[in-house]
Amino acid sequence: METRNNPVCRILGTRYPLIQAPMNWINNAAMVAAVSEAGALGVLGPNAGPKIIDGRKVPTQERIGIELSRIRNLTSKPVGINIFSDHEDATRAYAMKTIAAAKANDVNIYCLVGTYDELIYKAIKEAGGIIVHRELTPTPQSAREAEEHGADIIVATGIDEGGMIPSGCMGTFTAVPAIVDAVKSVPVMAAGGINDIRGVRAAFALGAQGVYVGTRFITSDECPAAQVVKDMIVAGSGDELLAVTTNERSLPTPAAIDYHRRLMAGEPAEEIHKEIMAKGGLGPAMLHGDVNTGIVSVNTGISSIRSIKPVAAIVAELMADFNG
Ligand SMILES: Cc1cc2nc3c(=O)[nH]c(=O)nc-3n(C[C@H](O)[C@H](O)[C@H](O)COP(=O)(O)O)c2cc1C
Repeated sequence: METRNNPVCRILGTRYPLIQAPMNWINNAAMVAAVSEAGALGVLGPNAGPKIIDGRKVPTQERIGIELSRIRNLTSKPVGINIFSDHEDATRAYAMKTIAAAKANDVNIYCLVGTYDELIYKAIKEAGGIIVHRELTPTPQSAREAEEHGADIIVATGIDEGGMIPSGCMGTFTAVPAIVDAVKSVPVMAAGGINDIRGVRAAFALGAQGVYVGTRFITSDECPAAQVVKDMIVAGSGDELLAVTTNERSLPTPAAIDYHRRLMAGEPAEEIHKEIMAKGGLGPAMLHGDVNTGIVSVNTGISSIRSIKPVAAIVAELMADFNG
């Protein structure tokens, strides 16, 4: 497939219509730069870089700035940055600092996760930025509204995904066409459970014009995830996943088995979520390999991931149908 006329490539300035989803804790300059060098869009996520768990919800502007300048020493290709948007003052203030750090490092693609926020949109647009809008629970209506507000690309995420899963029931196979049909002209990217070329083909058959992939990149050489986590994915299967809260699943680590048992026994999901966050969220297990304390969040399609490879090989495999 020719990508010259692909709208996602045109908007992002990339060779391929592929975004590496930002992943909390398990991302750093080396991985992001490798993705961008391979022709896709690498995106820096929260808590990138330093191998510490310091209790802060989000990294500081300084930390992001350091990691972004490391990226800029590795690649001059387009890269993106993650922005949260939930109408909380603290989140908004953090978004503003992130936008300043991105601008200072010549980064202008913002992968926004959450709901539309007028102030954040305005700040990004004033900085000359591109908005990739991903609702945590995407709906046709929210996609239409994001388009009207000026989103450049919409991501349709199904409950198959790794990370914080949508609250609704829509899988990737149903979310993507529903959102493709809802928007007027903005391109839609598919997220959730896309681990190989079959998933990419399915996404395009459903009307997506790009794919947004997280879990597959955990099993890259460059991803700073703990080796034990990479091994669990390569040996694992999506049917082993356990619900640990309403919006979080995990491979069956000792911690996840305990959370799941308590959730099934009726303990409020919010209480369990608070406990997971108090222990460092995805950091302890996914970054440091402490599976007794932490959870391992991946998508439901991991049985099609059977190898750990360089980022460039993963991008080449996913994008084998495209000649950029
Ligand atoms: C371990 C993990 C952590 C994630 N953390 C974030 C995050 O902090 N911010 C964000 O916007 N997306 C995050 N995501 C990405 C999304 O949830 C994304 O939709 C997803 O990775 C794409 O689906 P896939 O994992 O099935 O490929 C994370 C995903 C994973 C697997």
